[in-house]
Amino acid sequence: MDVLEAIKGRRSIRMYKADLVPEELMRVLVEAGQWAPTGANRQNWKFIAVTDPKLMRSVKRISPMMWGEAPAAIFICQDLTRSRAPPEGGSGRTTGFVSQNIMLAAYSLGLGTCPIGGFNRAAARDLLDVPDDMVPLLLITVGYPDETPEVRLRRPFSEVAYLNSCRNPWRVGDE
Ligand SMILES: Cc1cc2nc3c(=O)[nH]c(=O)nc-3n(C[C@H](O)[C@H](O)[C@H](O)COP(=O)(O)O)c2cc1C
Repeated sequence: MDVLEAIKGRRSIRMYKADLVPEELMRVLVEAGQWAPTGANRQNWKFIAVTDPKLMRSVKRISPMMWGEAPAAIFICQDLTRSRAPPEGGSGRTTGFVSQNIMLAAYSLGLGTCPIGGFNRAAARDLLDVPDDMVPLLLITVGYPDETPEVRLRRPFSEVAYLNSCRNPWRVGDE
């Protein structure tokens, strides 16, 4: 699939079919995350894929911002043995690279995803036996979409982009 098509076509999916996601596909998604760029190639990320339906019900219980049910999820975790950058700083920034890789790869495979920041980190630690040198930062739900959400429109291009100078908002077309 064309990358630009995937970037613009991807939507956050919050309603999934009950079908389970094959483990091979979950592996492809985690591998896509692993290929994200990291500062000095530190590769300070670890991934916990959750595919067990009972465990997914518990993930839902500890994630107040997760709407609906999802058959699978991936927790993106900082690996403190490779970088201790605070999650609110550098490592938080690169979570974006990792998660977008996973979400675009999923979209290209016909899977839906939704990034979820609203989960209880301490509860996730207990639930998934996460050691102290790993910090779960973001949860991405995964499954086969059971909805076609409306496009969440983006701000006008000229409101967010400048050409060469902030005195020169970048106007395109009839904007
Ligand atoms: C860091 C981050 C955290 C998010 N957390 C949640 C969340 O807790 N619950 C949720 O339903 N959506 C969450 N979202 C999804 C956003 O609401 C969604 O990406 C945004 O509305 C744009 O819609 P789109 O992804 O369909 O383009 C999160 C997105 C990001 C990037």
